[in-house]
Amino acid sequence: MKSLVREKDEISEKSAPRRLHIVTFGCQMNEYDSQRMAQMLMGRYCLTPFPEEADLIIVNTCSIREKAEHKLYSLLGRLKGLKKRNPALKIGVAGCVAQQLGEMLFVKAPYVDFVMGPQGLYDIVNIVKGLDEGGERLVRVDLDNDFDIPHVEAPLPKKGEVRAFVTIMQGCDNFCTYCIVPFVRGREISRPSEDILREIGSLVDQGVRDITLLGQNVNSYGKKSPKGVDFPGLLKEIDSAFPDIRLRFTTSHPKDLSNELIECFGRLETLCEHLHLPVQSGSDKILKRMNRRYSRAQYLQKVEKLRSVCPDITITTDLIVGFPGETEEDFRQTMSLLEEVRFDQAFAFKYSERPGTAAARFQEKVPEDVKSRRLTELLKIQNRIGLEQYRRFENRICEVLVESFRDSGITARTRGNHVVNMEGAGGLVGQLINVYIERACHHSLIGRIVH
Ligand code: SAH
Ligand code: SF4
Ligand code: F3S
Repeated sequence: MKSLVREKDEISEKSAPRRLHIVTFGCQMNEYDSQRMAQMLMGRYCLTPFPEEADLIIVNTCSIREKAEHKLYSLLGRLKGLKKRNPALKIGVAGCVAQQLGEMLFVKAPYVDFVMGPQGLYDIVNIVKGLDEGGERLVRVDLDNDFDIPHVEAPLPKKGEVRAFVTIMQGCDNFCTYCIVPFVRGREISRPSEDILREIGSLVDQGVRDITLLGQNVNSYGKKSPKGVDFPGLLKEIDSAFPDIRLRFTTSHPKDLSNELIECFGRLETLCEHLHLPVQSGSDKILKRMNRRYSRAQYLQKVEKLRSVCPDITITTDLIVGFPGETEEDFRQTMSLLEEVRFDQAFAFKYSERPGTAAARFQEKVPEDVKSRRLTELLKIQNRIGLEQYRRFENRICEVLVESFRDSGITARTRGNHVVNMEGAGGLVGQLINVYIERACHHSLIGRIVH
């Protein structure tokens, strides 16, 4: 959970007398959407980190797993108290749970003033204006399959930040059987490449050096508009327009990872040696039931190709344990895949049933205690492998980009996305420096600056 705060000195009291507090759950796309909302409301509101002093609170929600949804309900309980003390407070629920539940949210929380799905965010100014003028509470959850992502002119607020995210597409057409995203984010829609380049340009002008392109399945960027550029084409355009940045993207679906895209890792200077490639399971039977449309062997082949083009590439993944029908043998297949691929990092989740998805109707549900045991076992193995992988950098010199400074230490990132901590001065933030890696820890490296 993160709150968005804008620095006080940027706020004009006269033009923005009222206060907005935003709480964000879920993925980086939600973070990005929250920034957009804050930006669009900037003329009317200034941001506050304190919910108790806000005139408007927006909760941007996630429904990927049941746990994420529960976070919203416990937060709403607390917000109810605030509204009691300050009846003028307006509360809005945005994002994926809003899309999923729509009007039902008013039944759970009658003190909410508006419910708005992810596509509604570009209308946030009108929604808030309507409420300010005494309008009724409202719901905005239509999903338009031909929705055009509007271009928002003003640059995103990114003061002093070295890293930024740029959403290049929204929605998903893949319908993996466990996943709620296609239902709450609608069909896949790509942003025009001119808008993306313009946005990157304005971020670069503000000092951003490390850009991550976002989408649920970036590899299918542009596929629906054959006249425009495809994903490798977009990467090439960005690479030649901004030769001094570090470029990354997430997430890639393995089935759409083309040879052309793999070759970009060897060819494009800006493209960092880092790929998040969710595998979900090592068992062909489970992959099939998940509707992932690749086999274990095909996944391994892609990994091999990636490593032949770019030997040092960092590969990270997502995994689900306890999917309906997952036997002990299927789980062993996932464990052996971890040993075979040797990911730098893996994000593993217990399968969580989502209403309306195909898997919710599947038989052979795996009991909760079995899921927990498998998750623990998996994390134990992956922690060992991850640390061993990180050790390959010990006693090597790496070029890192310094991202932040705190308590006489600096935090930087390698091109392969490894976080490096070391002694250093705040003036180095935003600079590329060479660092000698002394030691690997779990999920980070410790280094010293090479002069
Ligand atoms: N579009 C991305 C993933 C987005 S969701 C992709 O296809 O790779 C991020 C991760 O959440 C998924 O990779 C998956 O591992 C996990 N996830 C999604 N739905 C889930 C569910 N119902 N239960 C448990 N984990 C889930
Ligand atoms: Fe969900 Fe699959 Fe789409 Fe990823 S590709 S968002 S896991 S449906
Ligand atoms: Fe969650 Fe929606 Fe992102 S369900 S993971 S916030 S797309």
